[in-house]
Amino acid sequence: MSRSATVPKLPPSIAPARPEEEKRTLGQFFTPPELAEFIAGFFTRDLRDWRLIDAGAGAGALTLATVKHALRQQPRPATFHVTAYEIDPAAVVLLRQTLDHCATLCAEEGVAFSSDLRAEDFIDQALGTLERNLFSPKAETFNAAIANPPYRKLSTGSLQHRRLCAAGIEASNLYSAFLSLLSRLLDAEGELSAIVPRSFCNGPYFRSFRRDFLSRMAFRRLHVFGSRNTLFSAEAVLQENIVFCAYRSPTPANQIEVSTNSGAEDDPLRSQLLPWREIVTPDDPEQFIHLPASAGDRSARQQLSAITGTLADLDLTVSTGKVVDFRVRDLLQREAAPGTHPLFYPCHFRGGLVVWPQPEGRKPNAIAAPVERTDLLIPVGTYVVVRRFSAKEEKKRIVASVLSPTRLPHGVRWLGLENHLNYFHCHGAGFATALATGLAAFLNWSVVDTFFRQFNGHTQVNATDLRRLPYPPAKALIALGEHIGSTSPDQIEIDRIVPTFCQR
Ligand SMILES: C[S@@+](CC[C@H](N)C(=O)[O-])C[C@H]1O[C@@H](n2cnc3c(N)ncnc32)[C@H](O)[C@@H]1O
Repeated sequence: MSRSATVPKLPPSIAPARPEEEKRTLGQFFTPPELAEFIAGFFTRDLRDWRLIDAGAGAGALTLATVKHALRQQPRPATFHVTAYEIDPAAVVLLRQTLDHCATLCAEEGVAFSSDLRAEDFIDQALGTLERNLFSPKAETFNAAIANPPYRKLSTGSLQHRRLCAAGIEASNLYSAFLSLLSRLLDAEGELSAIVPRSFCNGPYFRSFRRDFLSRMAFRRLHVFGSRNTLFSAEAVLQENIVFCAYRSPTPANQIEVSTNSGAEDDPLRSQLLPWREIVTPDDPEQFIHLPASAGDRSARQQLSAITGTLADLDLTVSTGKVVDFRVRDLLQREAAPGTHPLFYPCHFRGGLVVWPQPEGRKPNAIAAPVERTDLLIPVGTYVVVRRFSAKEEKKRIVASVLSPTRLPHGVRWLGLENHLNYFHCHGAGFATALATGLAAFLNWSVVDTFFRQFNGHTQVNATDLRRLPYPPAKALIALGEHIGSTSPDQIEIDRIVPTFCQR
């Protein structure tokens, strides 16, 4: 299915001029008008009486876009009521003007408009409303919600975090707290259209949120912006975003519309109807939300569906590097010397190759820890190392390298791996070179990278996500590793040989 709808061109948004620091504290990134209309266009119901909630309304771009959307309805709605929450007094001034403008637009079309501007903390107020609703059900609910909620980590133990927990909401970020609360404030079938980072789709931090949200809401449509950093380019937000529409229902829809575009101008929207089980695998305890947007993505899933082993089947584990450098500054040394052990940072792994030491580089090359410090050191051996953050110049998210003792000076017994690295090991020690070579090639296969991106929405490569990948049997990886030997195949060669060994 392909849509003729144009994709927003994303002009700069209207926002109060605030210092970056303050904007970040408020999680304040305003939606440009065209994008706001795109998000409001996700509502599917022609309501006679709109009861909209806009949480974290900013200057009101989303409410205005929803009003315009409703006024295009045939027949027109009879009434439009909006409750808009905004905590920032500077934004409230703009919001008031926008609500006045909405009233004018509605009056021109004979629609009765009313608004309730709440210059208050949405989380506090919503928790209060939910408590009141317990005693007087349906005291205040909505049949539509729209949000571009603030994005900021919620620190565990903070007052808000504790209040949310007490209400049964485990939130690691303000945006998931907003979505959880909104899902509770909607009537049955009430729709929520929102733009949020796609980080909630995977990872342990959002597990409880996914379970909670999916038990209450059914996705109708998801739109994935294919490239980073274009949406709020004027606001310098480095996040991958999705727009979605979900409705209040405890059971998922059978099918869901998934669309994508690159975010670039003139790129048409591509859209397909997919069974829900392709988005969330039935019985997946993690409830990962796969976003198989393009044909390439689907093909990657299909190719990997034949691979069903786990990391545990290989008797391997993946962990993050033990050395958190600022905690052991006094042990770090620029150059290796007697009594020190090689220390590896991401900069020591380039394009799959190990480049150590780098005496001219900015990072230390050695750690002077006593050998008893097993909390810092690992025994010398062959490991597969994957950076946690991909380097800017690297197109792929997963870049795996083999760290082998043959690349180290004779006599080295221990190593340090810095915390920005993940490493595959066998019960804390290294493992056979052929298996490591095959495993690194498998991880460097483009198909694995494409598959990984579908459930990894941020730029980080977490050990948890690597654990969730399917792995070929040891026999296949060893044969692949033996075939590669000490050569360094390029990407084209890796993409050619890996399937011949791993998809048999
Ligand atoms: C990402 S901005 C989006 C603004 C607007 N929805 C838009 O799309 O342009 C989030 C807004 O939420 C507001 N905000 C942050 N925390 C809030 C809270 N606890 N209650 C109400 N508003 C809040 C911020 O001031 C900011 O204006």
